[in-house]
Parts: sequence; structure tokens; C-alpha cells
Amino acid sequence: MRTSTARAYPNIALVKYWGKADEARILPAAGSLSMTLDDFETTTTVVPAPEVDADVLELDGTFADADATSRITTFLDHVRTLAGSTDRVLVRSRNSVPTGAGLASSASGFAALATAAANAFELDLDTRDLSRLARLGSGSACRSVVPGMAVWHSGDDETSFAEPVDAPDMRMVIVTVDRGRKAVSSRTAMRLTAQTSPFYDAWVSSTEDSLEKMIAACRADDFTTVGELTESHALRMHAVIASTLPPIRYLRPRSVAIFDAVAELREQGLEAYSTADAGPNVAVIVRPADAERLAAQLTEFGEVRVVAPGPGAELLSADAEVPAAEVSA
Ligand code: PMV
Repeated sequence: MRTSTARAYPNIALVKYWGKADEARILPAAGSLSMTLDDFETTTTVVPAPEVDADVLELDGTFADADATSRITTFLDHVRTLAGSTDRVLVRSRNSVPTGAGLASSASGFAALATAAANAFELDLDTRDLSRLARLGSGSACRSVVPGMAVWHSGDDETSFAEPVDAPDMRMVIVTVDRGRKAVSSRTAMRLTAQTSPFYDAWVSSTEDSLEKMIAACRADDFTTVGELTESHALRMHAVIASTLPPIRYLRPRSVAIFDAVAELREQGLEAYSTADAGPNVAVIVRPADAERLAAQLTEFGEVRVVAPGPGAELLSADAEVPAAEVSA
């Protein structure tokens, strides 16, 4: 074993993943498509610790709670099985994205962890197998292994991975409405949606249809169709989430106000389209030449960042190691 550090970026889906066909293997009920970003990265170092009897997780400089640590251990058990090892590790992870606030921190987190852990345990995985491995930590993480636009195929354990797809060049203007942790995790809310929404089956079948159209629009370099599909698919996801029992609502009044403002800007000739994950923050896609103009129009709603398609998960050199947490007496 060896110490390894990796970096990965979050992704924002244009065709959303919401619902599992298999909870244990994290197989999605339908395929999805997302853009990996060039900002809000996670850097993770995995340090061999064969002398300890439990994995240790340090998140942003402090020791993580039992829940977060056990999720990491469950994931690392998959890596240990592949490597034929029982060794425990120290995981030090640093996020530049608010954890659990709907900016896909689990995606960058598990993509970085999968990449660092696979190398630490000396597994020789290609991008496809790394994507399959990251999927076992958090579904959307399999897309963050891949640069730029990524399609995640539904299927079985072998065939469910993400791979790049050609797409129009675009920017995302991310408006942070709230940095707080979301009230209901996407894992719990997805389960509730599948169990209680009368619209769930229609959501799954319409997602497959949207994905097919989205891949065609991406390949045809058709920004307008990509945008229209993105916005309607996001609203459909929030609609099916709102139809659960008890109901869940991630969008805030301010999030909805951003969707309205973007629709109005569109009427005025600035072509842009909104989406939002399981949280209140809104990502707006726009052509590169219009990004700064759009960003200037959205500053009244929250902190605004313009992001571009970013790299896939990658290993870093030893000097990028995440420093150990300070142990307070
Ligand atoms: O991978 P998870 O469990 O964090 O789920 C992510 C779900 C959404 O972000 C809401 C949609 C998506 O496709 O990323």
C-alpha cells in the first residue's frame, strides 16, 4: 500500500438521477447526464494504517462523525475486496464546496476517494472501472470521474458507468442561495419518492426519453434544445419530489425567483436555462459569450460563480497531500 492523493470536481446533472433500481449496488432506475465543473473541488488523501482497527475520516480539518465514517468504511470495503486486503486507512478530505448543500459534494468526494483509494491499494483500474467503483460510494460520483459532459448508463454492475459525450461548449452560473446542510439527504428522499409518489414510474420512463433526446442534442451541438430539456427535466424532478408522502421541497422562494428571472432574461434575448439539484442552489447554463452578462444579472439572488466544464478525477503528487487535522487537547 502507499499514500495517495486525488482531486475531483462536482458535477451538475442536466438529466437528473433520482431513484435507484438497486440500493446496494447503487444502480440507477434511469440513465443521466451531467457536466463536471472546474471549481468547488475535493482533494482527498488516503494514508495506509494497517496498525489501526477502524478507518478514520478527517473532513475539512476535523474528525468526522460516526455516520460519515461508516459510509466511508462501507465504500472502502469494496476497495479492500477488490484488493484482497483487510488494511484500514486514514482518509483526509478537503472540500471547497459546502458539504450536503445540493452542490454535489458527495460526487466530488467519492470520485476523489475512489481514485485515491484505488491507487493506495495498488489497484490498476481504467476509467470505466474507476467510474463503477465511485458509483458504489455515491451514484452521481461515477460521473465526476469523467471530464466535461458525462452520460451515466443505467444497467447492471458491469454496464452502469459514466463516459464522456460531445456537447456544446457552455458555462454554468451557480447561484448559492443557502450554504446550509439540506434537511433530507438525497439517499432518503430518493427512497421515499420511489415508495410513495404516484408519479414515480412516469418519472423514470420520461427520464429515459429525456436522456435520449439530450444525448442527440448534445451531439448536434444544439444549445437551445439542451437548455430546454435541462430546465424542464429539473422541474419534473422537483415536482416528483414534491409529490412524496410526507412531501419534500428543496427549492426555496429565492430559488424559484431565479428560475423566473432567467425565464425573463430569455424573453429579452439572453438565452439561459436553470436547473437545481436536491437543494436550494440554482445552476444556470449559458453560452460562454453570455456568461458574464448573465452572472451580473443574478448577483442580487446570492453569491454567483461562473464555472466551465472541468477535468475528470486525477491523482496528484505527494506535495498535494491534505494535511492532518490538529488534535485539540
Ligand atoms: O449521488 P447522490 O446520491 O448525491 O444523488 C444526486 C442526485 C441529484 O444531484 C439530485 C441529481 C443528479 O443527477 O446529480
